[in-house]
Amino acid sequence: MNQPKDSPATVRIAERLAEIEKFHVVTLVTRAFELEAQGKRVINMVIGEPDFPTPQPIVDAAIDALRHRQIRYTPSLGSDELRAKLQNWYHTRYGVDLPKSRIAVTSGSSGALLLTMGALLSPGDEVLMADPSYPCNRHFVRAMEGKAATVPVDADTGYQLTAELVEKNWTSRTVAVMVATPSNPTGTLIPIDQLKEIHAVVQRNGGVLIVDEIYHGLTYGFDAHSALEFADDVFVINSFSKYFCMTGWRLGWMVIPQAYVGHIEKLAQNLYISNSDVAQQAAMAAFTPETLSIVEENRHKFQQQRDYLLPALRDLGFDIPVEPQGAFYIYANCSAFTQDSYGFCYDLLEKAGVAVAPGIDFGEHRAAEHVRFSYPQSVPVLEEGVRRLRNYLKG
Ligand SMILES: Cc1ncc(COP(=O)(O)O)c(C=O)c1O
Repeated sequence: MNQPKDSPATVRIAERLAEIEKFHVVTLVTRAFELEAQGKRVINMVIGEPDFPTPQPIVDAAIDALRHRQIRYTPSLGSDELRAKLQNWYHTRYGVDLPKSRIAVTSGSSGALLLTMGALLSPGDEVLMADPSYPCNRHFVRAMEGKAATVPVDADTGYQLTAELVEKNWTSRTVAVMVATPSNPTGTLIPIDQLKEIHAVVQRNGGVLIVDEIYHGLTYGFDAHSALEFADDVFVINSFSKYFCMTGWRLGWMVIPQAYVGHIEKLAQNLYISNSDVAQQAAMAAFTPETLSIVEENRHKFQQQRDYLLPALRDLGFDIPVEPQGAFYIYANCSAFTQDSYGFCYDLLEKAGVAVAPGIDFGEHRAAEHVRFSYPQSVPVLEEGVRRLRNYLKG
């Protein structure tokens, strides 16, 4: 009998795929799960998500919605009620008054970033961003036919872009600058005055500033300022994933400069119609005093975890010149142990059962000398990770 064959001639891969790389963190997580399935205990310091459950009031709101309401399409930019909650959040948290119409609910901040790139980029347009930075950023840009123009950054600028770096790297193809504060993988922030200066340079050059504020709420000892406190022509990206412990619900939001609202809406309508209704109804409970007290308690625990892990890693010989003040990552120079952080991460996982992320995920600049530790784990788990690392490094 003739079987249908999968002939190579029928496989047509878009050119852009050649420039979209694997997310090594995910590969390492998959391997960690395999090892655990074989009965080995892995200390997971690789994955970028809180280990706390979604706060109960949010879960209860979802259950209530499932029991008592119809789950339907919502407006493409999000339910009116949730946008109103977000509007109020900006008022109470940052003292910023926004029209609700500029707030869009999205499928995680990933959805917001994709829409932003879709609205801004024509083929070949360039977006400046720091190297290292969140890996998907350069791929969002590529997926929308733009080009990520990465700028190497080091400890002297807190691993962040500065106004001078933006000015120096601006070209005739640059249309936007993208920053994240606090940043993944470094946990560092851009001081508000520096952010204002970056904004001024971008404005002067006729570009657009995109500020990823996904780790707001996860800063230790202080609250971060939003770019919206001084500008209304920036794209501000945020999410329920991290501070509200809702990674799997896939819900985020963005604040859009007025002139782009209709364009973003048109894209959202066509690309996915609406976001998850049940997730939006759940998120209505995110801003209640009960939920906020839970997430603030979590924040306190993250700080304790950082305060344990940072000196412990330095003691082991990792060089961490800038104290991370936010998110839940520590970006560490591992060149005392290896010149190949990629091989180091895979070997560490296999031999010591400790999963950490290789620098190569976050860019090219000195990537082989760096690893990222993610610390949303209880202190006893982190202690076990450090004990295993110490033994492994002793050889
Ligand atoms: C800096 C940054 N931006 C965006 C995202 C995407 O998150 P989500 O789509 O879950 O909101 C992440 C995820 O780790 C991130 O670290």
